[in-house]
Amino acid sequence: MLKKPIIIDTDPGIDDAVALALALFSKELDVKLITTVVGNVSLEKVTRNTLQLLTFYGKNIPVAAGARKPLLRQAFDASSVHGDSGLGAYRFPDFQDTNLLEQHAVVAMYNTIINSDSPVTLVPIGPLTNIALLLTMFPDIKPQIKEIILMGGAIGRGNSGIYSEFNITIDPEAADIVMSSGLTITMVPLEIGRKALVFPEDALKIKEMHAIGDMFYKLFKTYRGGSFNTGLKMYDGSAIAYLLKPELFSTQKAFVAVETKGDFTSGATIIDLQGNLGKDANVTVATDINPDEFKKWFMETIEKCV
Ligand code: RIB
Ligand code: CA
Repeated sequence: MLKKPIIIDTDPGIDDAVALALALFSKELDVKLITTVVGNVSLEKVTRNTLQLLTFYGKNIPVAAGARKPLLRQAFDASSVHGDSGLGAYRFPDFQDTNLLEQHAVVAMYNTIINSDSPVTLVPIGPLTNIALLLTMFPDIKPQIKEIILMGGAIGRGNSGIYSEFNITIDPEAADIVMSSGLTITMVPLEIGRKALVFPEDALKIKEMHAIGDMFYKLFKTYRGGSFNTGLKMYDGSAIAYLLKPELFSTQKAFVAVETKGDFTSGATIIDLQGNLGKDANVTVATDINPDEFKKWFMETIEKCV
């Protein structure tokens, strides 16, 4: 079976670390490039974290560093959730930086897509700054992009703004460019991650699986995306789950806009599930997931990360 070519744009981030493993060890995916973007922590830290994770996973994938700040706004981080380093207090062994490309992430994405034998799927699991820059600088690349499957947005209340999710809140203007690009987009919002939970009993099983599982356990102990005892939210992992196991999800096509002007609501994803605005649907929104089926898939897939 031909592997699906993908590029992951990420801001590790504890849940990003899990999502990267789910993708990198999959036999169905050809991860051609990993690009980094300012988000959970600074560009330098997310890039270092990505290189550390790839070395730990034993995966020699090209990495390119991208946007150091959002298109227009000042960045703020999520170190309260992921720790100052972005990966908790875990001390990774020395990492290789030989796979860190000189080019900016946007140029590396363009080159990877244009040289791919088949259209490439983009999987952003952080703010959308790099993706917006790619589509703005190289609009002719769109026919070579199969689709975008992104973790971001909120149907209801947010986790960063009152009505906005972190990845979108960091760079609403970038998200607006992506949502109105005309590309095939699937959005995996907060509501999915809130049902894609790792409970203490799951974490203990993961710890015993292998070295990567032991590392995840140590990350989970300090991850504030939920709580260790009541359930840790696998936001980014749910986007990879959609890529690999879409049948776990309920989806609905809808018109989606991003608020970029609201004093209190910028970054909100306006998801018109009832069609009140009478506008054509531009996004497929993941509206639900079967939590038991997800957990079964998640544990089986983590076990194969060796
Ligand atoms: O809101 C959840 C998202 O913000 C995830 O991608 C997490 O890693 C953080 O970046
Ligand atoms: Ca992320």
